[in-house]
Amino acid sequence: MASPIPPGPSSVRVRAPAKLNLALRVGPPRKDGFHPLATVYHAISLFDEVQATLAEPGVFEVTTTGEGAELVPDGDDHLALRAARLLAERYAADEPVGVELAVRKSIPVAGGLAGGSADAAAALLACAVVWDLDVSPEALRELGAELGSDVPFALLGGTAIGSGRGESVVPAMARGTFHWVVAFAQHGLSTPAVYRRFDEIGDPPAPADFEVPDEMLNALLAADPARLGATLTNDLQPAAIDLQPQLARTLEAGLEYGALGALVSGSGPTVAFLVGSETAAVDLGVALSADGVCRTVRRATGPAPGARIIG
Ligand code: C5P
Repeated sequence: MASPIPPGPSSVRVRAPAKLNLALRVGPPRKDGFHPLATVYHAISLFDEVQATLAEPGVFEVTTTGEGAELVPDGDDHLALRAARLLAERYAADEPVGVELAVRKSIPVAGGLAGGSADAAAALLACAVVWDLDVSPEALRELGAELGSDVPFALLGGTAIGSGRGESVVPAMARGTFHWVVAFAQHGLSTPAVYRRFDEIGDPPAPADFEVPDEMLNALLAADPARLGATLTNDLQPAAIDLQPQLARTLEAGLEYGALGALVSGSGPTVAFLVGSETAAVDLGVALSADGVCRTVRRATGPAPGARIIG
């Protein structure tokens, strides 16, 4: 007699990574208000975790703990919950579902590291598994794009070239492991506010066509941190510094202490420093902490995998 099919897990844990934009080229705003981007995404080993537990049909709840949890919007504005609802609407319409999400944050909120996108990506994957849905990775990425420009990359991970408003991602060839020191700022920055400032500054005008630098792609292929450090670039950096002038000092301090390259991550205000080894990362972390130019320092490596089941 055939044995019955075992039920799926009633609870799944997924983690998803923070991202850096190693290059972020930004064009003038489109008709829909979004800015066209050419970017090199790079996932680093700083992860948020989402546990999805089956609940009664129609129940959609979320709790958040950890780094900056008090700053995460409640209820239906929570990106992880929106992700769960969107997935249910599109892929579980015939059979009502419910879920309780527990989000454990290590990625700072409003930090330019796509922490909210990581939560949405992790929630999409975790819910797809606990609800036992038949959704391909491509379909999950398409849903992710509806939730936020960085969500498809949080699902994919690694190093990737992003275009459109950031939602179109293709893996980039990269070799080796890069060592990063990431400096969290005292206060967050709102992404729309940074883009608005970028438009206001408008000097030089945002170019209509642009691409990621070839030297950066070659440095990634060659696993060469010194060359990669020299090519880090972010068009939003002047706007972020304009809104938080102390970031200029943070960047300068890391370079003085020997970083191979430094940049504001995405819309900021987190600053990422590239170094040549784990030892160099420890040394730079200690120096930056002692200098007091930021709230907290973390070490991370990249590339890291995208959203993955961990239990
Ligand atoms: O897509 P996401 O929800 O992350 O975008 C947040 C905000 O950042 C948008 O509402 C928009 O103001 C700004 N943005 C932009 N151009 C992009 C990505 C984001 O103007 N390519």
